[in-house]
Amino acid sequence: LVLVVDFGAQYAQLIARRVREARVYSEIVPHTMPVAEMVARKPKAIILSGGPSSVYAEGAPTIDPAIFTSGPAVFGMCYGFQLMAAHLGGTVSATGAREYGRTRVTTSLPGTLLAGLPAEHNAWMSHGDSVSAAPDGFTVLASTEVTPVAAFENVDRGLAGVQWHPEVLHSEHGQKILEHFLWDIAGCRQTWTIGNIAEEQIARIRDQIGPDGRAICGLSGGVDSAVAAAIVQKAIGDRLTCVYVDHGLMRKGETEQIERDFVAATGAKLVIVDAEKQFLDALAGVSEPEAKRKIIGREFIRAFEGAELEVIKDAPEGTKVGFLVQGTLYPDIVESGHGAGTSTIKSHHNVGGLPEDLEFELVEPLRELFKDEVRAVGAQLGLPSVIVQRQPFPGPGLGIRIIGEVTRERLDLLREADAIAREEMTAAGLDGDIWQMPVVLLADVRSVGVQGDGRTYGHPVVLRPVTSEDAMTADWARLPYEVLEKISTRITNEVAEVNRVTVDITSKPPGTIEWE
Ligand code: XMP
Repeated sequence: LVLVVDFGAQYAQLIARRVREARVYSEIVPHTMPVAEMVARKPKAIILSGGPSSVYAEGAPTIDPAIFTSGPAVFGMCYGFQLMAAHLGGTVSATGAREYGRTRVTTSLPGTLLAGLPAEHNAWMSHGDSVSAAPDGFTVLASTEVTPVAAFENVDRGLAGVQWHPEVLHSEHGQKILEHFLWDIAGCRQTWTIGNIAEEQIARIRDQIGPDGRAICGLSGGVDSAVAAAIVQKAIGDRLTCVYVDHGLMRKGETEQIERDFVAATGAKLVIVDAEKQFLDALAGVSEPEAKRKIIGREFIRAFEGAELEVIKDAPEGTKVGFLVQGTLYPDIVESGHGAGTSTIKSHHNVGGLPEDLEFELVEPLRELFKDEVRAVGAQLGLPSVIVQRQPFPGPGLGIRIIGEVTRERLDLLREADAIAREEMTAAGLDGDIWQMPVVLLADVRSVGVQGDGRTYGHPVVLRPVTSEDAMTADWARLPYEVLEKISTRITNEVAEVNRVTVDITSKPPGTIEWE
C-alpha cells in the first residue's frame, strides 16, 4: 500500500493512478489525517503531492515532521518536495523566480531516483519558491536554470523528492522516476495487476454478502454497472439478480445488446422491465428539460422498485435481498470525502403486503478502482468491448436529446439518425478519438429543403462530437469532412423527416455537451 497525501491540489488522483500503473496499490488520504493513523495502515511508502501554496504562506497546509521518521519511505513532489526540505533542515527561499509549465531539468548525478535518465529532460513545473539548499545527508540530483536543488534523495532513510510533477503527461520520464522510488527506494512489490484486482474484489464481495445473502443490481447499459454486476456474479452466482429498466429512451440495439452480450458474457440472471409505455405516458406533453429529467428519474425509481419486489417475491421463504450493487468508483469516494465502510440506504415501497421500508446494504465492487481499471477488469471478466469501451451516455437517454416533447415517433427518428452516425464513426475508426457524439433532434423546428423534385419540410438534427478528459470541459471535435459528408448524406437519404444535418461547434463552456 502507498498512501498519497492530498494537499488540496488536483494532482493526488493522478498520482494515485500512476502508482497503480507501476503495479502498486495506492489510496489517497487528506493531509489532515494524523501521521499515526497513516502509519497504522502500514503503508510501504507515502507520497506528498503538490499543493497550491508556498510553504511559508499563512495557513499553508503542512504535515507533522514525524512522517519522515515513522518507517515508510516518503516521496515529495513539488509542494511535498519543499515541505520535506523545509522540515528536514534544508532551505526554501522565495527567490522571486517562478517556473510554470515545461522546464529543462539538468541531472547532475542520477543516484537511484534518476537512474538511466538523460543528462537533460523536460519536466512540468508549477512553483514560486525554490529549494536553495538540501537537508544534511541528502544528495542533490538535479537543477534547473532558476532552481539549484530540483531533486534530491537519501536512499538510506528512504526519502526522495523532485520539484516538478512527474505524474503529468508532459513530464518526460515521470513514470520511470516514480518507479525508481517505489521499486528501488521504497522496495514496493509489483502485485497490483488486473488479474489480482478482479480476484481480490470477488473475494471481498463474497465475504461481504456472506453465504446466503442475495443482491440486486440495476444495469444501465454503461460500463460501471456492467462490470460491478459481473464481479458480484462471479462472487455469488445466481444469488444476484440484475434489473434493467427499459425506459424506451435507449439508442438503437442497446437493450438487445445488454440482453444478449451481457448475459452471454456473465451468465447473470437478468430481469428486463419493459417500462416504455410508463415513461412515454409520463413524458407526454412535457418539453421543459428539467421537468423531463425529474420525470425520468422518478419513473426510473418506480420501475426499479417494482422489479425489486418481484425478485423478493421469488426468493425462498425467509430470505431477504439485503444487498444493492452500485458502480461507485474510487474518484466518487475521494470527492465525497473519503467515506469509509459501507452505508445503508432505504428504499421506499408502497405496495401492500410487503414491509414499508426495505433496507439495503450497499455493495460497491468498484469503490477502490479508477475508470481505466474498471474497463480492464471488465475485459478480464470477459465482457465484450462494446460494453467496456462504451462512451458516456446519459441516464435520461434520448429523452434529453429530443428538443421538444418526447414521443415514440420522434424517438424512432432520432434512433435511426443516431445509429447511422455511430456506424460511420466506428467505420472511420474515430471512436477512440472522441469523448462522445450526441445526436440531437430539433423536433419543434422545421426547415424547407428539396429532395428529388419535391419540396420537403423536415427537422434538423445536430451532431455534437466532443473531445474531453472528464466531461467538465470539452472542445468540439474536428471531424474529417469526408466523415461528416457521409453521415449527412446517409441521414438525409435514409431518415425520412430529417432534411438537414448540422454540426455543433461550441466548446464547453459555454455550451454543455448535451443540449438539455
Ligand atoms: P453536460 O451536458 O452537462 O454533460 O456537459 C456532461 C456529461 O454527463 C453526461 N450526462 C449525464 N449522465 N445522467 C448521466 O448519467 C444524466 O442525467 C446526465 N446528463 C448529462 C453527458 O452525456 C456528458 O457525458
